[in-house]
Amino acid sequence: MELSAAIILAAGEGTRMRSATPKVLHTFAGKTFLHRVMDSVSALDANVLAVVVRYQGQRVAEAARSYDPDVVIVEQDEIPGTGRAVQCAMAQLAAGSPDGKLHGPVLIAASDMPLLDADTLHSLIDFHAAHHDGATVLTTKLADPTGYGRIIRKQDGSVLRIVEQRDANESELAVKEVNTSVYVFEADVLEQAIAGLNSNNAQGEFYLTDALETARGLGRVVGAFAAPDSMSVEGVNDRVQLAALAKAHNRRVCERWMRDGVTILDPETTWIDDDVKLGRDVTVLPGSFLQGHTVVAADAVVGPYTTLIDATVDEGAHVERSRVQESHIGARANIGPWTYMRQGNDLGEDTKAGAFVEMKKAHIDEGTKVPHLSYIGDAHLGSHTNIGGGTITANYDGVHKNHTEIGSNVHVGAGNLFVAPVQVGDGVTTGAGSVIRHAVPQDAMAYSENTQHVVEGWKPAWER
Ligand code: UD1
Ligand code: CA
Repeated sequence: MELSAAIILAAGEGTRMRSATPKVLHTFAGKTFLHRVMDSVSALDANVLAVVVRYQGQRVAEAARSYDPDVVIVEQDEIPGTGRAVQCAMAQLAAGSPDGKLHGPVLIAASDMPLLDADTLHSLIDFHAAHHDGATVLTTKLADPTGYGRIIRKQDGSVLRIVEQRDANESELAVKEVNTSVYVFEADVLEQAIAGLNSNNAQGEFYLTDALETARGLGRVVGAFAAPDSMSVEGVNDRVQLAALAKAHNRRVCERWMRDGVTILDPETTWIDDDVKLGRDVTVLPGSFLQGHTVVAADAVVGPYTTLIDATVDEGAHVERSRVQESHIGARANIGPWTYMRQGNDLGEDTKAGAFVEMKKAHIDEGTKVPHLSYIGDAHLGSHTNIGGGTITANYDGVHKNHTEIGSNVHVGAGNLFVAPVQVGDGVTTGAGSVIRHAVPQDAMAYSENTQHVVEGWKPAWER
């Protein structure tokens, strides 16, 4: 069934978050609430996708457009409430359609539901279509329904109305079935049902929920479809709910990976974003964060206490107590402990980056080792080269980032300084403590003087 429009409500401030950032731009498992809901709603392929904004509207609109440049942005006026948001959206969408009306079903969804999934939405739409109702609300049953609008059903199962927590009496508060804030309305029903909304309620807002009772008054049946998985439709209003839902979701993600052949020693302290991919027999040790589009191939070991952000780790590599961002770690490479890989590194097979090594845009060929206390930035190191402890590429002259090129089978002494731009050929050896400012040809030995002075019988100040 074709949706004439899908409307995402994202105009609320999210007061209960107590944040300078609008609630919909908070993140959940690596993505904003808004992008997560847009992901699921976009899968329905509605004729028009609209996002209603107001609080920090520019910022939210930009985020929506960055996801989908064709999205219709609706600006809600100063009148508060979910009902007002839909009034504003419908007015704008109707004005934009050829005969000044929408035809067919309209999906409405709140944007503070980070786990809303396309399957649930498809089931809701199918249910709505099968029952030919005027409107269908997506509900769920919760052990603790506090804070949600309660679904008041008639004997025949159809929906009589929705009562908000703050407007409910004792028997209504006892109802465990709640409104998820996702609905399908026939456009003509919606148009009439929102026309007469008012703010005669505990919050002084235009409630969208009131439109259901009105739809009923128009002689149309209002149906309810209960989401099979209540976690997928949970709303987040504050940071306590955010943490609880994120934890529950992460637990599921970890369990899915464990069932797929990944060893996770402690799912409680292992956080895996949704778009991460893990190969068979990967081991993830405690305190690890696998974020963004990170990919870890078979037999690799990650952690403990490691953060991977958009990183690619090949077969059998080890990354221990390190942070790796937008970098590629080759097969069987050995990273850490305490290695800091900033963006743009590409490490070949069997390489090593050891303790207290920082790298940025370093391209390191097969078998090369940077074992101790080094900074390698804007550099290419050939294969089977060894970098002595404490070596630094001085890549920045205050204006430009300059490149260091070091060949294959090079033995760099401890404590070297490569003043870029500089080139060192294959098979070179450098002396300890050298400052290499000029090109070194292939198979040469290079060292730089630094004179040692000895002052005999010298006494420290406190003894003088
Ligand atoms: C709403 C429902 C409640 C339901 C709950 C599910 C109403 C009156 N209540 O309550 O029945 O159980 O969601 O989570 O609809 N928004 C706007 N403009 C506004 C106000 C809100 O676009 O003026 C948007 C918000 O950005 C948010 C959504 O509407 O995405 C829901 O708003 P929220 O304030 O979270 O409603 P709840 O109190 O949770
Ligand atoms: Ca909410």
